[in-house]
Amino acid sequence: MLKKINPSQTEAWARLKLHYDRIQHIKLKDLFNENRERATNFSISWDDIFIDFSKTHINRETLRLLIELARECGLNQAITKEFDGEIINETENRAVLHTALRTPPGINTYCEGKEIQDEIHAVLHQMEDFSERVRNGEWKGYTGQPIKHIVNIGIGGSDLGPVMVCRALKHYSDGGPEVHFVSNVDGSHISETLKPLPHEQTLFLIVSKTFTTQETMANASSARQWFLDNGGNENDISKHFVAISTNVEAVTKFGIAPQNMFRFWDFVGGRFSLWSAVGLSIALNTGFHNFKKLLEGAHAMDEHFRQVPFDENIPVILGMLGIWYTNFFECSTEAILPYDQYLDRLPAYLQQAVMESNGKSADRSGNIVSYKTSPVLWGEPGTNGQHSFYQLIHQGTQMIPCIFMAAANPLKDPAEHHKLLLSNFFAQSEALMNGKTEENVRTELIKKGLSEEEVERLLPFKVFKGNNPSISILYKQLNPYNLGAMLAMFEHRIFVQGIIWNIYSYDQWGVELGKELAGQILPELKTDEPITSHDASTNQLINRYKSLQKKT
Ligand code: F6P
Repeated sequence: MLKKINPSQTEAWARLKLHYDRIQHIKLKDLFNENRERATNFSISWDDIFIDFSKTHINRETLRLLIELARECGLNQAITKEFDGEIINETENRAVLHTALRTPPGINTYCEGKEIQDEIHAVLHQMEDFSERVRNGEWKGYTGQPIKHIVNIGIGGSDLGPVMVCRALKHYSDGGPEVHFVSNVDGSHISETLKPLPHEQTLFLIVSKTFTTQETMANASSARQWFLDNGGNENDISKHFVAISTNVEAVTKFGIAPQNMFRFWDFVGGRFSLWSAVGLSIALNTGFHNFKKLLEGAHAMDEHFRQVPFDENIPVILGMLGIWYTNFFECSTEAILPYDQYLDRLPAYLQQAVMESNGKSADRSGNIVSYKTSPVLWGEPGTNGQHSFYQLIHQGTQMIPCIFMAAANPLKDPAEHHKLLLSNFFAQSEALMNGKTEENVRTELIKKGLSEEEVERLLPFKVFKGNNPSISILYKQLNPYNLGAMLAMFEHRIFVQGIIWNIYSYDQWGVELGKELAGQILPELKTDEPITSHDASTNQLINRYKSLQKKT
């Protein structure tokens, strides 16, 4: 069992509060002026990844106190419990062992005392064998043609991780089948996806941990119907449909043969499942050798997280900086800004990972917390975001901690685009920190020949307050290993924060209510009767929908 410690009642929290009162008005610029070594003091180099967190409102004392808080909240013991396979997801009575999925052979891993490596590696071999046969054309569709298109049908963790990684590793997909992702229950998603595809060369992966998710089941049935309508028959289904799930019974009931099923386990949460057979689309698209490297990178980060002292531990430091900004500076959001187009779905993936995990208000004793938990996470790749929402970060009324990411070496670079990209990556965190003072703006406008009156009129609009914090992550190149390591880094950061906030990070009860209500409403949409069973607004909307339907 995890300890149940209210962080706001700890000594470290009280000390941090006093410390915050002392330094809250400090300017980042001044911190650099005070300490010439600041940039090197507050950055970490690990493998091919460099993390600079010097543009944050901390000094040595802040870091010391944050680490004291982590210790007082039992982070050390919690990490041991997680990796030892204890039941730390207590509201679902499960262990949390996505890390075991990337543990190399030969290292025993236990879940509630039972050895699990053999099972994990058996599925990895099944994935390797299958993905190679599909990629080399040995696995054929029912007309004898090789598979050229993979359609991953899944939602949430059964979609966001695989789609994000497939896009991130597109450069490495040489010769692999094309991958498509269908998640939304909106029929346009599957129709538009399937429209151009040759059914005889298409393989469907039905990915669902529970194999009961409404959206996935509806899309799987439509895919199956599409396949049959286009010329396939029931006996051909086994060549075109495979399932990835923990629910053998439901998979069999759906009509997918056991030999076409890839298993995973309850100790793997949906949003942490891309390392399991849920990542089959990644192995098919980029080759199993690349999937393996992804696992290796993640495992290396797991070991770092497990073994390195907190004051040099990347996920711990990043996690505690998040606590500092959320609970002391009271920031409500955090932006994730990859200057790497290959990472365009990383913000969406992290939104689920972070907010479904730590968007909780009941603590581990069932009491409502008196402090903030997860901030809203959002973002877009740079430089697109600069031409959209950066205005608010620079001149709005809120402090928004930003995480910038960029590769030092591009994978493709026609006409030196990468230098243009990186000049923006460096410029933004500098601008956010330094801003532009009245004095600078005045000098600039005078130089341009504006009248004194004009200068004074424009001044307030052209000032940048600056002092906005950011963390910059610079990696040598985007490759499967580095990607795996960085994703594991974000996963452990979520764990760290969940421990400090004294919440259960691995359940997601908050998604249930909407599902239940949709289940009640669905039959109501199938009748002509006016609906009166809901609140006035919902009744009105349903009834207006019905009358609008009649008109069309
Ligand atoms: O509704 C939320 C959720 O349960 C996520 O946690 C999960 O990733 C997603 O639905 C899909 O679930 P499944 O893989 O069981 O279809």
